[in-house]
Amino acid sequence: MHETYDAKILNQSPVAGPRLGIIGGGQLARMTAMSALQLGCNVVVLERNPYSPAATLATHSLVGDWNTVEALLGLASQVDVITLENEFVDANHLRALEDAGHTVWPNSQTLALVQDKFTQKQTLQAAGLPIPRMCATDEPRDLERAISQLGLPLVLKARRNAYDGKGNATIRTRDDIAAAWEKLGGNAGNPLYAEEFCDFTSELAVIITRGRNGESAIYPVVETVQENHICHLVRAPAAVSPEVANRAAEVARRAVETVGAVGSFGVEMFLTRGGEIVVNELAPRVHNSGHYTIEACACSQFENHVRAVLGLPLGSTRMVAPAAAMVNLLGNIHAAGRAGGLDQALAVPGAHLHLYGKAMSGEGRKMGHVTALGETLAEAEQAAVECASKIHFGKTS
Ligand SMILES: Nc1ncnc2c1ncn2[C@@H]1O[C@H](COP(=O)(O)OP(=O)(O)O)[C@@H](O)[C@H]1O
Ligand SMILES: [Mg+2]
Repeated sequence: MHETYDAKILNQSPVAGPRLGIIGGGQLARMTAMSALQLGCNVVVLERNPYSPAATLATHSLVGDWNTVEALLGLASQVDVITLENEFVDANHLRALEDAGHTVWPNSQTLALVQDKFTQKQTLQAAGLPIPRMCATDEPRDLERAISQLGLPLVLKARRNAYDGKGNATIRTRDDIAAAWEKLGGNAGNPLYAEEFCDFTSELAVIITRGRNGESAIYPVVETVQENHICHLVRAPAAVSPEVANRAAEVARRAVETVGAVGSFGVEMFLTRGGEIVVNELAPRVHNSGHYTIEACACSQFENHVRAVLGLPLGSTRMVAPAAAMVNLLGNIHAAGRAGGLDQALAVPGAHLHLYGKAMSGEGRKMGHVTALGETLAEAEQAAVECASKIHFGKTS
């Protein structure tokens, strides 16, 4: 349903449950909306595309550009609480909503600390949290200083609007500088920074949901496996010692507290060869590394997010099986988004298939995911990988 004919109905109709507005209509909004609908909420989604994954199932869909205050105020006027599915919405615009009396979680202050990743890491560092060594770079020649401080290789990163590795470029020799700077939009004025290359043994992640009253619910520490900087596989719980898991959980807890989080947040960390835990980044929203919680935990990251932003008690993060694995379904060509291979994929026992309903697939585009539970990580991973291997996008057979 679209604004033109149903905005009026929403304003006039008796509302059964709380009205939750979501900025953005991708898969994270879609899975959040599913939980909100289960809890009897009305869900209003704001996205540019009327057929976004979340718009197609929301109670109401507003078509508009969430980069404008006008569109955000339009959403705000229809809901009780606003939340978001990405960190790209401008914190100043969220501030304008708050100033107009609207409730936004996470709030503009949190987003202002998090959405610029350089500022985010400075904030975490000031709170005594371990981060990779990094260096501001305003122009390519600053990389000389970065190389002398951080060594080679190093990773050049976009400060804002980066996801799925699109904001990263590894510099191995000085010859890579110009191309990396160009690739990340440095020449077009996109702010960048340099970070030491972390020689990690594994990547860990933790989802934490923090309530409006500061209460927090922490999910198990998981291992994430990236291919080409995109999350490919999640193993829950991570096969690390209890001591490492406790340290990772504690770092994550302090990180979300530092930025005043409300809602579900994802904290990505590196476990270095020396056994150190270093925060890679913090996402002020539900996170890909927490998709497994839908089937594997008593209360998912999505439901807990909805509970948190509405001021309801948080649910248990306990796993309901000894192990779980999640595999992302990525597109590999630009083509229609319909999935093929369902007959075979759904024949894999115990695998839970999620398709996001995107109209188009593209290279590396997240089109869905599979979660499987098991007695062991190996068993869960085998089922999830097998199911995922049957699904393809953009082929006719
Ligand atoms: N400093 C680093 N050293 C080594 N690998 C890195 C570094 N920073 C990022 N990566 C790799 O790239 C992936 C994506 O980078 P990240 O900073 O998390 O950006 P995003 O997930 O927003 O695209 C990480 O999960 C990791 O695999
Ligand atoms: Mg990341």
